Amino acid sequence: MKRILLFILPILIIVAAAFTVFGIIQVRFEEEKLIEDVQRKARSIAEGMELSVRHVLEDNDLKNANYLVEKFQTRERLQGCVIYNRTGEVFAITRRFRDWKEKQKLYLIDVIQTKEPHGELEQFKGYTVYSYVLPVFNEDKTLIGLVEILHDTSYVFPRLAAMWRRLSVTLAVLLVLILGISIFLQNQIFVLPVQRLTEWFKHFQKGETDADQPIKEKGELGKLASEVEQVALSLRVARKTISDQASQRLQKDELWTEAKLRDLIHAKLGDNAFFVISNREPYMHIMDEATGAVSLIRPASGVVTAIHPILCACGGTWIAHGSGNADKKFVNSKDKLGVPPKDNRYILKRVWLSKQEEDGYYYGFSNEGLWPLCHNTHTRPLFREEDWLTYRKVNRKFCDSLLEELPVQRPFIFIQDYHFTLLAKMIKEKRPDAKIALFWHIPWPTPEAFQICPYHKDILEGMLGCDLIGFHVQNHCNNFLDTANRLLESRVDTEKFSVVRSGKESFVRAFPISINGHTDRAAAGSDTQQAEKLRQEFNLKGQIVGLGVDRIDYTKGIVERILAIDRFLEKYPQYRKRFVFVQLAAPSRTHIKRYHDLIAEIDELAERTNWKYMDGDWKPLVYLERYFSADEIAPFYSLADICIVSSLHDGMNLVAKEYVAEKRDAGGCLILSQFTGASKELTDALLINPYSIEEFADSIRRAIEMPSEEKMKRMQNMRKTVAENNVYRWAANIITELTALKTA
Ligand code: G6P
Repeated sequence: MKRILLFILPILIIVAAAFTVFGIIQVRFEEEKLIEDVQRKARSIAEGMELSVRHVLEDNDLKNANYLVEKFQTRERLQGCVIYNRTGEVFAITRRFRDWKEKQKLYLIDVIQTKEPHGELEQFKGYTVYSYVLPVFNEDKTLIGLVEILHDTSYVFPRLAAMWRRLSVTLAVLLVLILGISIFLQNQIFVLPVQRLTEWFKHFQKGETDADQPIKEKGELGKLASEVEQVALSLRVARKTISDQASQRLQKDELWTEAKLRDLIHAKLGDNAFFVISNREPYMHIMDEATGAVSLIRPASGVVTAIHPILCACGGTWIAHGSGNADKKFVNSKDKLGVPPKDNRYILKRVWLSKQEEDGYYYGFSNEGLWPLCHNTHTRPLFREEDWLTYRKVNRKFCDSLLEELPVQRPFIFIQDYHFTLLAKMIKEKRPDAKIALFWHIPWPTPEAFQICPYHKDILEGMLGCDLIGFHVQNHCNNFLDTANRLLESRVDTEKFSVVRSGKESFVRAFPISINGHTDRAAAGSDTQQAEKLRQEFNLKGQIVGLGVDRIDYTKGIVERILAIDRFLEKYPQYRKRFVFVQLAAPSRTHIKRYHDLIAEIDELAERTNWKYMDGDWKPLVYLERYFSADEIAPFYSLADICIVSSLHDGMNLVAKEYVAEKRDAGGCLILSQFTGASKELTDALLINPYSIEEFADSIRRAIEMPSEEKMKRMQNMRKTVAENNVYRWAANIITELTALKTA
């Protein structure tokens, strides 16, 4: 509309200006005509009176003079009449006009001198009259007096005003007509064809064939569409070829790589589009409020670490909450952007949430409710009705955002985590043809623990909208099947590991998540140099270095770790001044009180422990509380002789795998909580119960004192496990399983 106005406005201005000039000329002309008419009438009245006036003046007959001036006053639009003697003094005047006497009338002198009639508009008591003065002569042609006719003009101006009004209405109608016709024409010629073309593009994007949606457009736009159709055809042919080549390459049994996953996806999904949905986005635009500078960060999240390489490999669309404070500045009109920024491999679509939505859905229901419910850490889950309602609303919002994107052919949708338990069912209601998998990145509790959630039925029903539900370990799968069996009217098939509810079958499988193995990290060579720099920066020369890398979360066992270090130094004082533990701690979910309090608790504990053992310029803990990027963390891994992962409960824990993958020289030792999913695969780590501080402290000593051959052997075994079971294999397993499913 704005653009139409921009185009039509000059036309409207020109038409309005031309019409106004025309109006002014018309009105002027009409005014002159009316005044001339008044003048003519006044003159003819004066001439009609001339003879009678001559008689009354010659006879000095005041009585008849008065009769005369009163009689003429009854004529239409005549205001009054005045008879003057030869010197211009009033002889007789219409009674109701007697004040006219007082008016200064210089024009009378003119008429007496020139002996010519005179007509003029005159102002009197605030209104306008037309005065016509006729000299009166006797038979000898001597001037004996004057007669003045005062004619009403009040009707002239209303007539002109009415004319203006008529002209204005005509102008307004004209402008509206021009506007209407222009909009109509613009719609016919431009908007509708472009709309039709846009519709066609949408169908084309969704993969509909040309036969289903032929291009109807003619002319230039038709030519453009037909060009795009040609590109579409070549693209389809190219995809098919890639797909065939991919199937051939997959026959070979090698380590899983990005290229191999890409081949698998081409072979299995073909033209079908791939969508990922998670709460956390892979890239956040963050603006420093003090300086206004914007930085692009990769959030600390297991989901991001695992899913990003997959989308880089196979392309697709990732839909996530746009939670960076500058995110809105970096999306197109459809809230999308290509990522990674310099090498766009896939599309990130950001969904915007209000503060109230983020509070209820993310902080409230997801992280104060489901998170503690699923983690065995004795933090009480909080379930508030309004949080639940908001959680439902946000799941619906993500559903709508996804549905906008779905192609006509069966899409593959991969939902991440506990933030979207209701999403699969919502999608299936609209798109029963979609294949949906959900991966649960955190533990799944026992039915007894899960049933305390007041909304457990809705959650289970929502999740059973999926065709495939994945957990990290078999134990979580078993817990889920038990939960569905006990809390929902459903049939659990323990042979097939599936749940059937209302005729719909959902398969449950364990897929231990992983990392990409860092085989292709560009920065790898410089990590050792960087590590040396860190050694200098943090005064670690000659020290045995321990490392922890975590979000500050009560499930990570950071407090227990510091307590164990304290006990280790207490019990084995020979390691004082020889051991330093570096903790990288990224603040997380800080609006939740439990997390806020935890930050203070850890600060205080680290401070106290350092104070207890501090000696000269040595202190046991280097506590770095801020966000660290993957490239910043890598040199710390390289530096660390020991890495401690002491989660009280953890779905998998990718830090453990990252540390192993970074140890290219097979040095280093991993101390790993037995309550992590990773401990089921990394059995060569030193497994600990983080609640047992004594055992934990002893494990630190054991890690330090372990013979280097044993250390190396263990590390080599773990490196092999991580390399073989990398995230590409994880994704390949899920996609293979999903595409092979014959759902009921
Ligand atoms: C866990 C969850 C992820 C989440 C991550 C970071 O790993 O499974 O879904 O992204 O924690 O938490 P945050 O709330 O910051 O995304």
